[in-house]
Amino acid sequence: MFEQLKEPSADKILMLMQLYREDPREQKIDLGVGVYKNPEGVTPIMRAIKAAEQKWWGEETTKAYTGLAGDPAFSDAMIGLVLGDAVPRENVAAVATPGGTGAVRQAFELVRMATPKARVHVSNPTWPNHLSILKHLGIEAVPYRYFDETTCGVDFAGMMEDLEKVEEGDVVLLHGCCHNPTGANLNLTEFKAVIELMIAKGALPMIDIAYQGFGDGLDVDALATREVASACPETLIAASCSKNFGIYRERTGLLMAISQDSSKQKVAQGNLAYLNRQNYSFPPDHGARLVTLVLNDDKLRADWQSELEDVRLNMLSLREQLASEMQRLTKSDRYGFIAQHRGMFSRLGLSTEIVEALRKDHGIYMVGDSRINIAGLNKETVPVLAKAIVEAGG
Ligand code: LMR
Repeated sequence: MFEQLKEPSADKILMLMQLYREDPREQKIDLGVGVYKNPEGVTPIMRAIKAAEQKWWGEETTKAYTGLAGDPAFSDAMIGLVLGDAVPRENVAAVATPGGTGAVRQAFELVRMATPKARVHVSNPTWPNHLSILKHLGIEAVPYRYFDETTCGVDFAGMMEDLEKVEEGDVVLLHGCCHNPTGANLNLTEFKAVIELMIAKGALPMIDIAYQGFGDGLDVDALATREVASACPETLIAASCSKNFGIYRERTGLLMAISQDSSKQKVAQGNLAYLNRQNYSFPPDHGARLVTLVLNDDKLRADWQSELEDVRLNMLSLREQLASEMQRLTKSDRYGFIAQHRGMFSRLGLSTEIVEALRKDHGIYMVGDSRINIAGLNKETVPVLAKAIVEAGG
């Protein structure tokens, strides 16, 4: 049977990880996969997570299954973190999922179950795995203009023009903050215009929020998501704990299905739990437990927030350093957008040839579309990258 299988197309981001590992050069720089690294190049376990782990080791008495939706305390804590008090709790159905990817996958499956013909409108570009999962599920993805190659900002007029084509029952996938892969984000006024359009069209918004706390702060990063959830009749939200809690391999995420009509909560909750059962039964618990412990303990939460803020400020400072180094070398402001972008990524607008040359000649690894993980840099490597970009013709 296996001979019938075709080689799957390679995931660009994961392939790059592999190439980087195999590169024997000592001075190589990894700006590929979206994993935070401190200035020493280490992805640390956050202090509060370590403390929660120690606490939980002492307290845990069983490894028996949790519920299909995961521990309700995790849902409550995460709903609080993402939504604040934007939506009454009884309007939210939620299930724990294996990471943000699990939440995205379950959200798409829910859409397909409810409206098999629904199309999903995605920003051009978006996280490649959005497209890959949609294709795998046989759901049509319709790109809308998003990134302006000339300004490296958002082409908002183009986006709105394309979203005019949204039909009733379609899904509009939006990044809650820190757009992946571009780093270019809508402001709140623009978000509100998108909300109005989605409501007028009868479209269902789906928010992928994987970097809350990496942009302008925990609450500011959630503002757009909260606006959408409180204004639209129904909303899907896929939230990840991988990045802001630094628990990538624990696979911790939450899918929320929100309706202004609380009588729909029960059926939504039932269907989310059903989807968990079909795909993997019970969601992983360890990461979710740590997040719950951190969010529900004042001291741990304060320590987590302060460490997350250091992470955010480090990335912001690297953005400023890189933008100013590029300005110094090119004697122009054309890379000024790096300081305006937010989150872990920036798309630099470099050609594939330049991206290749940076890898081959300088051992600098970025995704083929010239997306860099800003956290892959430090004070010493910022000038190295800037010089290499200019040498390669960028
Ligand atoms: C990324 O975009 O690099 C991250 O979200 C990691 C991944 O799974 O692709």
